[in-house]
Amino acid sequence: MSLLTPPELTATAADTADVAEVSESLIVLDRTHAELNNPGEDVIAGLGRSPKTLPAQYFYDDRGSELFEQICQLPEYYPTRTEAWILQHYAAEIAQVTNSHELIELGSGSSTKTRLLLDAYRDTLGRCHYLPVDVSGGILGSTVNHLQVQYPEFSIQGLWGTYDQALAYLGTTQAPSRMISFLGSSIGNFNAIECDRFLQKVAAALTPNDWFLLGIDLQKETSLLEAAYNDRQGVTAAFNLNMLSHLNWRFQGNCNPDWFVHRARYNTVDGQIEMYLDCQRACDITFKTLDFQVSFAEGEAMLTEISRKFQLTQLEQQLNRQGLKTVQCWTDPQSWFGLVLCQTQ
Ligand SMILES: C[S@@+](CC[C@H](N)C(=O)[O-])C[C@H]1O[C@@H](n2cnc3c(N)ncnc32)[C@H](O)[C@@H]1O
Repeated sequence: MSLLTPPELTATAADTADVAEVSESLIVLDRTHAELNNPGEDVIAGLGRSPKTLPAQYFYDDRGSELFEQICQLPEYYPTRTEAWILQHYAAEIAQVTNSHELIELGSGSSTKTRLLLDAYRDTLGRCHYLPVDVSGGILGSTVNHLQVQYPEFSIQGLWGTYDQALAYLGTTQAPSRMISFLGSSIGNFNAIECDRFLQKVAAALTPNDWFLLGIDLQKETSLLEAAYNDRQGVTAAFNLNMLSHLNWRFQGNCNPDWFVHRARYNTVDGQIEMYLDCQRACDITFKTLDFQVSFAEGEAMLTEISRKFQLTQLEQQLNRQGLKTVQCWTDPQSWFGLVLCQTQ
């Protein structure tokens, strides 16, 4: 069976009613692999809060994934190239220490940096089973297609769904050692409570021989941070606004993105970048398929993303509380980004 091509994969897995193997290489995870996931209930909950919020996963439809790839290339956006630098220098060591036969990557996107790890596993073990997980089906499908050509000796299967769905689906592995990776500091999109819940689920998916590799963005000067999320070309602004277009097509909404403006600031008290969409005019927005209407006041700010910036010691304590002990950490010469390798304790 051939893999679906990206244009057919415009929806996210949350739309699908059943687990389905759409090809030998792509599995669609279903809602039973999550705690409770009626499509859009998270949107309704977020828009009911004050300030209004939207879950970060709605950044990613095909267009959102494409814009994120552009963000990764921006001169101001240091996280991608810094994490890539760490992987270029230490992927071989990671492969040797972990010796894992199965790599599960949560929020894999284009898996660009992961290729450094895959190369290292190929050199160390010869082969490996790679399971990229992403909610954005288009980029997942095309990435799996490309990787199968590039790594013919690997078995590669995409899991199209959310982190929660994937962690619930995984079960125990047959491989002697498994590594779960979560790169790009996506963990920073969770608040402290969500982060604890997520780490608990990761810990539950690991046996004592398994590993968790976590990429984290470290605290640094406000000017560097704010520049990274307010780039001069306006790509981050387009990425932020695309969330509204995504919600419109997904839930038959009538929100005009032109009524909103992107803003990002560093909250020094909470140590996090906060991305907002500021509403420029009072309006009522309806999402037909959710049977839901919401009113915005002129000047009202909606929080679309937090991106927490970590201190290594604090993060290690948080990992510890969830039963994960740090085995090794790698960073870049400026200590801008960290890769933390953990095991269950
Ligand atoms: C910030 S990007 C990071 C991509 C890549 N790991 C990197 O480091 O460049 C986050 C990725 O996670 C995916 N994603 C976001 N929320 C998700 C969720 N709840 N479950 C699964 N994937 C998710 C997005 O589609 C996107 O590809």
